[in-house]
Amino acid sequence: MLVVEHLTRTFKSGDDEVHAVNDMDFSVDKGEFVSIIGKSGSGKSTLLSLLGALDKPTGGSIKVDGQDITRIGDHRLISYRCSKIGFVFQNYNLIPNLTAIENVMLPMEFAGVSPRERKDRATALLEEVGIETDQMSRKPGKLSGGQQQRVSIARALANKPSVILADEPTGNLDEQTGKMVFALLHRLARQEHTTIIVVTHDLDIAGKTDRTFRLSDGTLKEVKKK
Ligand SMILES: Nc1ncnc2c1ncn2[C@@H]1O[C@H](COP(=O)(O)OP(=O)(O)OP(=O)(O)O)[C@@H](O)[C@H]1O
Ligand SMILES: [Mg+2]
Repeated sequence: MLVVEHLTRTFKSGDDEVHAVNDMDFSVDKGEFVSIIGKSGSGKSTLLSLLGALDKPTGGSIKVDGQDITRIGDHRLISYRCSKIGFVFQNYNLIPNLTAIENVMLPMEFAGVSPRERKDRATALLEEVGIETDQMSRKPGKLSGGQQQRVSIARALANKPSVILADEPTGNLDEQTGKMVFALLHRLARQEHTTIIVVTHDLDIAGKTDRTFRLSDGTLKEVKKK
């Protein structure tokens, strides 16, 4: 479902070039749960941004269900991001002047879901990630880092995406909450056949996904599992 070929993203800073993603090839099947590990600065966030069409590659292609998302127009790109992709950002990226529940409802508004259904679904998703009722009506600034992270996960699930791209989704969660979030992602992969790609530093978590890749020098290598 996801086929990446010769993907390259080069950043220029002065006379220097950083090859954050360097002629990368890999593919992921529908419903697969994949983890990506790698050192800080190895290009993990850069890769996820490319897969989520938040950034344009310097070269190469990304085919999602046969369609190359690096070559489609802006209009269709917006609908790709809105309907197919759920993105969990490393720094959450919640909208500060909207409450937790409004943050989760917003992508559904873009997708044309009715107000009633938006509210019901956002409430159910927030409950699923362990956000309590009184926290739902608070703005992100009045929530802890871990709570904001869980709101951002609920937001990523809002439009029932076929692909979830999550950058350190449990980085700020305690062990038990982290496990709960991973169980939720596992269930989505198994029951809804959602394709899931997570960046993580937690080798324990990486070990429990279907496949693990290590990112270094801008390329991915599959880590063999026993
Ligand atoms: N907009 C940019 N302009 C210039 N260089 C960039 C830009 N974004 C990222 N880089 C560089 O590209 C490389 C990869 O960065 P990236 O954020 O993808 O790393 P990462 O693996 O996500 O790291 P971390 O684990 O710390 O989040 C780094 O050397 C970084 O400095
Ligand atoms: Mg990063």
